[in-house]
Amino acid sequence: MADFQTKEVSTDLLIIGGGMAACGAAVEAAYWAKKNGLKVTLVDKAAVDRSGAVAMGLSAINQYVGLKDGENTMRDYLDYVRNDLMGITREDLVASIARHVDSSVHLFEKWGLPIWTDEEGKYVHEGRWQLMINGESYKVVVAEAAKNALGMDNIYERIFITEPLMNGDKCVGAVGFSVRENVFYVFKAKSVLVALGGAVHVFKPRSSGEGLGRAWYPPWNSGSSAYFTLKAGCEMTCQEVRFIPVRFKDAYGPVGAWFLLFKSRATNGLDENYMQTRADELQNWQPYGKVKPVPANLRNWLMLLDVMEGKGPIFMRTEEAIANIADKYKEDPKGYKKKMKELESEAWEDFLDMTISQAILWAGMNVAPEEAKSEIAAAEPYFIGSHSGASGAWVSGPEDLQTPETKDEYFWGYAHMATVPGIFCAGDASGASSHKFSSGSHAEGRIAAKAAIAYCVDNPAEPTVDQSVVDDLKAKILAPLDTFAKHKGYSSDDTIHPEYILPKMFMFRLQKIMDEYAGGVSSQFKTSKALLERGLYLLDFLREDAEKLAAPDLHELMRCWENVHRMWQAEAHIRTILFRQETRWPGYYFRSDTPGMKDDWLAFANCTWKNGEWVMTKRPVKYIHESM
Ligand code: FAD
Ligand code: ADX
Repeated sequence: MADFQTKEVSTDLLIIGGGMAACGAAVEAAYWAKKNGLKVTLVDKAAVDRSGAVAMGLSAINQYVGLKDGENTMRDYLDYVRNDLMGITREDLVASIARHVDSSVHLFEKWGLPIWTDEEGKYVHEGRWQLMINGESYKVVVAEAAKNALGMDNIYERIFITEPLMNGDKCVGAVGFSVRENVFYVFKAKSVLVALGGAVHVFKPRSSGEGLGRAWYPPWNSGSSAYFTLKAGCEMTCQEVRFIPVRFKDAYGPVGAWFLLFKSRATNGLDENYMQTRADELQNWQPYGKVKPVPANLRNWLMLLDVMEGKGPIFMRTEEAIANIADKYKEDPKGYKKKMKELESEAWEDFLDMTISQAILWAGMNVAPEEAKSEIAAAEPYFIGSHSGASGAWVSGPEDLQTPETKDEYFWGYAHMATVPGIFCAGDASGASSHKFSSGSHAEGRIAAKAAIAYCVDNPAEPTVDQSVVDDLKAKILAPLDTFAKHKGYSSDDTIHPEYILPKMFMFRLQKIMDEYAGGVSSQFKTSKALLERGLYLLDFLREDAEKLAAPDLHELMRCWENVHRMWQAEAHIRTILFRQETRWPGYYFRSDTPGMKDDWLAFANCTWKNGEWVMTKRPVKYIHESM
C-alpha cells in the first residue's frame, strides 16, 4: 500500500458511471453547468466509448413513445409498463422519462446513429415501442457527444468507484482506485449522480466451464449502483424484481426481433405452442393475465411450466417465421429470392449488432436460421431496473406530474433525487421505472443531471471531508492487496488458501447460495421463506469471509470489490423477496409458500440499510391520472 498515491479531485457534480444514463447526464449537465459556472466530472471503470450494457452495440432502441408523431398517448405507455410489471410501478417516474425519451432518440439520430426508415422515411418499428437501428456503434456515438460536452479533462476512465464518501448522513463524493496504476482517487462533490448500471453474476449462470463468464447481462456491471446507494443510506425499491430474459440458448442472443419483427412462435419439444396450450394458466394472474402483450414474466412462466413438466427443449421457430414472411413473395421468384436474402441478413445482423457471440455460435453449429429452428431458454436472474426488472433507488418524481394523492409519497424536491439529499440516480440505478431501456436511461440521465445542477446552485457550500474517513476507506479498500502479499506462497496453489479467499472463489460461493436458496436456475426459480432464511444465514458467513478477500494485482482488487458489491445486491434481494409475502411475478421467481398474488401486496417493498440494520418498508402504489 505504501506505493499507492492519492489523488483528489474537487467538483460540483460528480457523475459516476459512463453508460447510457451517465452519457445523457453529461450532455445535459454540461449545458446547465456552463450557465452557472459549475464543474462536472464523470468517472467510469472502463472507457466510455465501449462501457456498460451497450458496449457491444444494440440492434434496437426499445423505448420510443412517438408522442409528437401522434402514434401513442402517454396513457398507452403507462398502461404497458404497469401491466408488464403486474401493477408495481411509479407512473410519475415512467411518465417523467417517457415525455423526454423521444428527444433523446432524435439526438442519437442527429449525432449519427442510423435508425432504419421505410420508403416514406418513417422509422421502422420492431414492435409498438421499439425502433430498429444499425447499432453496432451506438455506444461510441452516444459517448462522443458526452465527451464533447464535458471535455476529456473532466472524464476519468478506468477508475473503479468503490464507496460513497460520507460526512455523517451527507454524501460528499466518492472514492475508488485506478485499475491501471497505483492511484487511490478521492472525488469531492456537492452532488453525485449514480449511474453505475445493474448486476450480473449474483446468481450462478447457466454457462459453466469454457463458457463461464458468458451471460446475457454484461459481466462488468456488478451491483455497484445498489451498493453505492445502500451504503450512502438511500431507500431502495423493488429489490425483489429481478429480470429473467428468455434468450437463444448458450450465447444469450436477443429474442425481441424474432418475436416482434419476424412474428415468430416458440414451441416445445412436442411442437406445441405454450402460449396457446397454457393460455388457461393466465386466468390465475388477473387482471394482468388478460392484457396484450402478455407480461414478460407470465410469458416466461408458461414456458417454464412446459420445461418443468419435461416438455423441453424450447425452440424459436426461425425457419417458420422466415418462410411465413417470404411466402408473400412466392408468385415472383426474383422478388422471393431477394426477400429471402434480406431476411437472412436481418437475422444475422440482429446478433452481429448486439450479441456477436450468438452469431459465432450459430456459425460454429452450422445454423441457417431460414432452415432450422434454434433453442431458447430462460436465463439466470439479473438486476436491471431499466429493462423488465425494476430494482433501484427510491427517487423523487417531478412536481408537475404528481396528483394530490401521490405528492406526499413520491415527491421531495428535486426530480430523480434519492432519499439522501444530493444523490441523484438514473438508468439501472433508479427503481420502479422499468422499460426505459437505452433511450429512456439516457433521457433519465438528462432529467436527473438538470435537477442535480439545480441542487448544486441551491446548495453552494463546499463539501466538508473528514480526512480520517478517507484514510480508513483507503486502508479498507486496498487491504486485499496486503492480504495476498502477506500470505502468498504458503499454499502450493495460490487459488486455494487457508488464510484468504480469491474473488473468483468468493463469487462461486455467492452464486451457489443464490442459486440454491434464492431461486436460481438450478432451483427452477423457486424459493420459500425457509430457503430464503437459510440463504441469509449462509450469507452471514460469506460476509465474514469478505474480510479475507485477497488480490494479487489491481485487476483482482477490482474483482474483490465487484463481488462485495454483488453480495450486497444479493442480500437486498433475499430480504425483499422475504418481505413481500406473495408471488407476483411467477416467471421471475416463485415463492412456493406464498404461491399467488395478494391484493394487500399491490405495494412497493422498500429497504434501507441504516446504522448497520436493514429496515423494510411497505409503500403504496398510486397511479397518476388515468387521463394522461
Ligand atoms: P449501463 O449503460 O450499463 O452503464 C453502466 C456504467 O457504469 C458503465 O459505464 C460501467 O462501466 C459503469 N460502472 C459500473 N460499475 C462501476 C464502478 N464500480 N465504478 C465506475 N464505473 C462503473 N436497450 C435498448 O434500448 N435496446 C436494446 O436492444 C437493448 N438490448 C440490451 C441487450 C443487453 C444484453 C442488455 C444487458 C441491455 C439491453 N438494453 C437494450 C438495455 C440498455 O442497455 C440499458 O437499459 C442501459 O444500458 C442502462 O443504462 P445505464 O447507464 O443504467 O447502465
Ligand atoms: S433486448 O433488451 O435484448 O433487446 P429483447 O430482444 O428480449 O431484449 O426485447 C426487445 C424488446 O421487445 C423489449 O422491449 C421487450 O420487452 C420486447 N419483447 C420481447 N419479446 C416480446 C414478446 N414476445 N412480446 C412482446 N414484447 C416482447
